[in-house]
Amino acid sequence: MSQIEAQKRVLSGMRPTGRLHLGHYHGVLKNWVRLQHEYECFFFVADWHALTTHYEDPEVIEESVWQMVIDWLASGVNLGSASLFIQSRVPEHAELHLMLSMITPLSWVERVPSYKDMIAKSNDRDLATYGFLGYPVLQSSDILIYKAGNVPVGADQVPHVEITRQIARRFNHIFGRDSGFEEHAEEAIKKMGRKNAKMYRELRREYMEQGNQESLEKAQALIQDQQNISLGDRDRLFGYLEGGGKVILPEPQALLTEASVMPGLDGQKMSKSYNNTIQMREEEDEVVRKIKTMTTDPARVRRTDPGDPDVCPVFQLHVVYSDDETKTWVRQGCTSAGIGCLDCKKPLIDKVLEEQQPFRERAKQYEENPDLVKSIVAEGCEKARSIARATMEEVRSAMGLDYR
Ligand code: TRP
Ligand code: SF4
Repeated sequence: MSQIEAQKRVLSGMRPTGRLHLGHYHGVLKNWVRLQHEYECFFFVADWHALTTHYEDPEVIEESVWQMVIDWLASGVNLGSASLFIQSRVPEHAELHLMLSMITPLSWVERVPSYKDMIAKSNDRDLATYGFLGYPVLQSSDILIYKAGNVPVGADQVPHVEITRQIARRFNHIFGRDSGFEEHAEEAIKKMGRKNAKMYRELRREYMEQGNQESLEKAQALIQDQQNISLGDRDRLFGYLEGGGKVILPEPQALLTEASVMPGLDGQKMSKSYNNTIQMREEEDEVVRKIKTMTTDPARVRRTDPGDPDVCPVFQLHVVYSDDETKTWVRQGCTSAGIGCLDCKKPLIDKVLEEQQPFRERAKQYEENPDLVKSIVAEGCEKARSIARATMEEVRSAMGLDYR
């Protein structure tokens, strides 16, 4: 697989720290399901990442790993188009993490915004560990080991993708210049044949002298079209184009998930730590109970008091789930005391249950047959591992660690 094809690969992970809720579905999983039709996707359970914060409760992680995979499948993640695996079952991530840690300046990890924030905020856990500091480096190795070009994440993760790019650049800069790089690149150019070689040189010059993006892309497509050159030469030609050495670890980009904040039962963002969630596969009775007991506009004490949907958490959920007609009905009925709060909640309950119906149906076979889930994951791990192994061979060789 060439760099350009790998660049179309999508990789993302989630930490197994509990059951997934509707916030995960609307914020992340819907996006994964959409992407799987366009890209080769790898989705993985970031159990080592979970350990960096939850090292004292590994049981939670173990239970959540399998439930999370079921939640993914329930959401419509499709095995024909996506591979699902578990981070710790591809130990090459740890090896790359170690290698990258050698070249990552301490200041880079210290200034990742989530680092100081999390340390300051978490009073119930001690996060002043070596492992937690290395979190973004581990994440970089997750991404780079698959040479994934696209990483769908929420805005909070963008700094992690950014540090991944920096680390990749630094790695290529240090280890991508095998001795005689330029001569090898020149030889590779000649192998393309006279006409193509001339075109490559022209495009490269245009890009190097004028920063012409279009020339860069044309030259990349030209390399891509060459049938008769080795993978090593190809990487060299890609690297030489941009003036650097061989691109061993390509830089990924973040595919930002739209900032749609899913409101929870109390109007704050839906989050386990606010205790305001509806789980993806919550029991139906429990869904009904949770919505029925939601607080409403506090000014609406009696049924005859008019209310204001703009200060009511129930209305925020209508914004996510209801059509315009229903929203207008709520607004009129609420402000005129024409409808009661239970009337208002009824169509919402129906919508949430309707959304969850396919989750329950898809999940059923996996809940009844845990071995099926394990075999799906085993297959994903195999596939991931063969890519990870190949990358590690290149990495070891670039670093001069392939003594035999
Ligand atoms: N840090 C991510 C989160 O908390 C999870 C994660 C780990 C991840 N490795 C990744 C996401 C690699 C994308 C790519 O959500
Ligand atoms: Fe909220 Fe609906 Fe009650 Fe108005 S009628 S206060 S929007 S629950």
